[in-house]
Amino acid sequence: MKLLFLSSSMMSKLTVTAFAVATIGVSSLMPQSATAAGGSGVALEHFTPVRTDRSLQRGAKVFMNYCMGCHTADYHRYSHLARDAGLSNEAVVENLIFTNDADGERTKIGSLMGNNMTKEYGKQAFGAVPPNLALITRSRGVDWVYTYMKSFVLDESRPLGANNTVYPNVGMPHVLADLQGWQKAVYKDDGAGHEVFDRFQPVIAGKLSAAEYDSTITDLVSFLDYLGDPNREARHSLGIKVMLFLLVFLVLAVLLKKEYWKDVPHN
Ligand code: HEC
Repeated sequence: MKLLFLSSSMMSKLTVTAFAVATIGVSSLMPQSATAAGGSGVALEHFTPVRTDRSLQRGAKVFMNYCMGCHTADYHRYSHLARDAGLSNEAVVENLIFTNDADGERTKIGSLMGNNMTKEYGKQAFGAVPPNLALITRSRGVDWVYTYMKSFVLDESRPLGANNTVYPNVGMPHVLADLQGWQKAVYKDDGAGHEVFDRFQPVIAGKLSAAEYDSTITDLVSFLDYLGDPNREARHSLGIKVMLFLLVFLVLAVLLKKEYWKDVPHN
């Protein structure tokens, strides 16, 4: 073979190149780094999504009640949510559909998860159009979305009274303030004359304790993670079956090869 005639220095160059290509390939698949995008520099909390029927049901309830007024998730149908969260179609219609279609009819189980807010209204009311959240955990990462939902702070200088340490000057109000209450951001000097975020200080209590709020956000962000990749579980289990099949097939192929070549003299 030609490769046998390569000098050892060429071989090591080849190895280094292969290693570099592999590293770049793998690192481009890695999740985003642990600091927030948008230059806020705030450290993100690590978040592992939960995927159980109960958590999906609770997360969907928070989403439909508190987010769908402004945001949509209209790559998804309510009927798929019913199937994936272990709910009957009737239960979804009764407990999770709160919108009417443009023609005034109650939204149906087979419909996409949309709302009727126009882009113009969103821009006018909030200074930015509330985006479709169906893929938000894919674009921002679950750590970002989780930390963002816990980082709304009181800020009277903002038009809607709220700011966000992860997404400075965000157009979104603190829609979960009745649950979480209000907190303030406390800043400290970083030694180089810059004010950097230090910690949150609770100011007004909400209906939930800090632990209950965390668990609500866990369900909510897990639901958003589900929207971003609804078939992950099925894909993983199929992937394992495919790998097992290939392994068995490899053994058969090796045995077959031996059988075919057994009478051919070696050298
Ligand atoms: C009153 C309207 C309103 C409601 C209700 C609302 N949002 Fe928003 N949201 C906005 C607006 C406006 C923006 C765009 C902010 C910007 O770009 O400055 C936004 C942005 C976001 C973003 C960041 C998107 C990005 O650009 O990366 C996330 C995540 C988000 N919202 C999640 C939620 C969740 C979860 C809920 C429900 C708990 C919710 N929002 C409820 C108005 C709303």
